[in-house]
Amino acid sequence: MACLFICMILSYLFAFIYKPYYCPKQSFLVHQQDNSAISSLGPTPKKTNLSLIVSNPVPNSVEKTNLSHIVFGIASSAKLWNKRKQYISLWWRPNEMRGNVWLDKHVKVEPNDNGLPHLRISSDTSKFKYKHKEGHRSAIRITSIVSETLRLGMKNVRWFVMGDDDTFFVPDNLVKVLQKYDHNSYYYIGSTSESHLQNIDFSYNMAYGGGGFAISYPLAMALEKMQDKCIQRYPGLYGSDDRIQACMAELGVPLTKEKGFHQFDVYGNLVGLLAAHPIAPLVSLHHLDMEANYIFPNTKDKVAALKRFRRPMKMDSAGLMQQSICYDKNRNWTVSVSWGYVVQIFRGTFLARDMELPERTFVDWRHKADNTAFSFNTRPNSMHKCQIPFVYYISTATTSAATEYLLHKTPLQNCEWQMPTPSQIEIVDVYKTPNPYLWDKPPRRNCCRILPTTKRRTMVIDVGECKEDEIIALR
Ligand SMILES: *[C@@H]1O[C@H](CO)[C@@H](O)[C@H](O)[C@H]1NC(C)=O
Ligand SMILES: *[C@@H]1O[C@H](CO)[C@@H](O)[C@H](O)[C@H]1NC(C)=O
Ligand SMILES: *[C@@H]1O[C@H](CO)[C@@H](O)[C@H](O)[C@H]1NC(C)=O
Repeated sequence: MACLFICMILSYLFAFIYKPYYCPKQSFLVHQQDNSAISSLGPTPKKTNLSLIVSNPVPNSVEKTNLSHIVFGIASSAKLWNKRKQYISLWWRPNEMRGNVWLDKHVKVEPNDNGLPHLRISSDTSKFKYKHKEGHRSAIRITSIVSETLRLGMKNVRWFVMGDDDTFFVPDNLVKVLQKYDHNSYYYIGSTSESHLQNIDFSYNMAYGGGGFAISYPLAMALEKMQDKCIQRYPGLYGSDDRIQACMAELGVPLTKEKGFHQFDVYGNLVGLLAAHPIAPLVSLHHLDMEANYIFPNTKDKVAALKRFRRPMKMDSAGLMQQSICYDKNRNWTVSVSWGYVVQIFRGTFLARDMELPERTFVDWRHKADNTAFSFNTRPNSMHKCQIPFVYYISTATTSAATEYLLHKTPLQNCEWQMPTPSQIEIVDVYKTPNPYLWDKPPRRNCCRILPTTKRRTMVIDVGECKEDEIIALR
């Protein structure tokens, strides 16, 4: 009843707020719209279908979205399958997840492939036009995966989630993100590219396919109805994700941007990006199979590198890659923790507003390295020899109580600053109580505190929720 009352008030308000807007004098057509808008929103609230007016709160009676409500559609190809399946097995949980890998041709199935999603062969798409000069027409096969998955008729599906065969998902965080949205409404959720030029070429309105994106069930139904014709209207597009976006534009559904999906259109050392992750759950990583990209130095084996996230993901996936910033007052150091991945110690005092920007340890898709290359703020690589951070990567010796980070040794610079050198620290132990409810609250950075220790060459840090008026500043 209370809700109905609020809805009625809202509907009156809407009528008042929007009336002037809907009343331009120029065109008869607009007046027609104007009248219908007023009559459905204003004078006769009893007959109004109010569920159309109030913006989609998730009804309390409905069970929260969990993994079983998601169906994954993973785009792959016979050629790369044997290599790429290793990435999928890093995050796929066969008894808890549903989904299919879509291939162009049959592949040989190995005995230990039964822990992977079902393999399916995409339908023939040769009747569709493809005219992009540099792209590949497999884009049409891949763009059809959402519709093909829907046509399988699986039960109790709320979301279709698309990804590439080299997309690494953090499943529990994906669920956390999708729980925020009403699966009974139209939603297209994902993120853009890190590369500004890529977004200019494709679109800032597009969910990049490699970063993964989610489409709600009713939106997938609407898409399926129109997708074949929609594909035919855009023969000149390059990929599969821009074809989805073109159809979304025709359906009038905008991208709902979630910052934890990572296309990673970047090359090089990704530590700068991941040490300053936005305050949002880490949902996906992509392009880690590329030769030039690495998240840990000196690791040739890309799959083994990602395995190092398994334990922190199990311990506290909500906290994975969340950055906290604190100061060692006695030694005049700034400390940044990206939980489950890396700790960095800097000489001197860096402000929170600088530390929260990714350091440009990487270049963009066109190998541009300056601050205009990216679709977000960055800070330059530390050039001054005293400001180069000491970097500690998560070790495999992490216990259930703490994550342990070990110094990545590089040639020492002889810094002349009169303050202790972080080179005396070789191990950082980070204590953090798992907090699965982190994202049920409005986003706020975690806080870290340097704890006293008698352990040699070791720094001990506690990470947890910030107190109400706790701030990140030295004094
Ligand atoms: C109101 O709209 C909702 C959602 O579109 C629909 O499920 C419901 O049946 C409608 N109710 C009436 C009374 O038309
Ligand atoms: C997921 O939600 C459904 C209700 O839609 C429920 O039946 C099921 O037990 C839940 N699964 C898990 C693993 O919580
Ligand atoms: C701390 O470092 C800053 C440089 O970032 C310097 O200006 C200041 O004098 C140092 N303070 C101490 C006590 O070493």
